[in-house]
Amino acid sequence: MATDFQPRVVGFLCNWCSYAGADMTGTSRIIYPPNIRILRVPCSGRVDPLFIVKAFREGADGVLISGCHPGDCHYAEGNYHTRRRLAVMQSLLEFVGIEPGRVRLTWVSASEGKQFAQIVREFTDTVKKLGPSKYPEGDQQINKSTNHKSANHK
Ligand code: FES
Repeated sequence: MATDFQPRVVGFLCNWCSYAGADMTGTSRIIYPPNIRILRVPCSGRVDPLFIVKAFREGADGVLISGCHPGDCHYAEGNYHTRRRLAVMQSLLEFVGIEPGRVRLTWVSASEGKQFAQIVREFTDTVKKLGPSKYPEGDQQINKSTNHKSANHK
């Protein structure tokens, strides 16, 4: 298996800092792995733990959450809530079979395009080393095939 494995990474980025940082990466033409699918959220504090579980249920191998640096959240404390929530959630994720390395929380400001690219590179490498996510097990897996739409679905 291994070397050809291309992980699917879902990135929840807050609108005000990290999404703008990712945009900066693009406008600066900095190359980073295409494995990430970005979802813009108003604030990292908006990332419900169920969003993370749902991402894995639907085929993600890793989830990256990125928000404004501590003290810079546009809703004052959203990123602090995220940090606390994720700390609590890590053990729950592990309990259901999602290794801690598959979920990462970072801070990226609107001017940190270069840092965003580096984070995506590192995280993609980490998830690549972990291999495909095994959550959920067996038949419960919704979307691990390359195309989740059935052929007779019209
Ligand atoms: Fe960016 Fe809250 S607005 S983390």
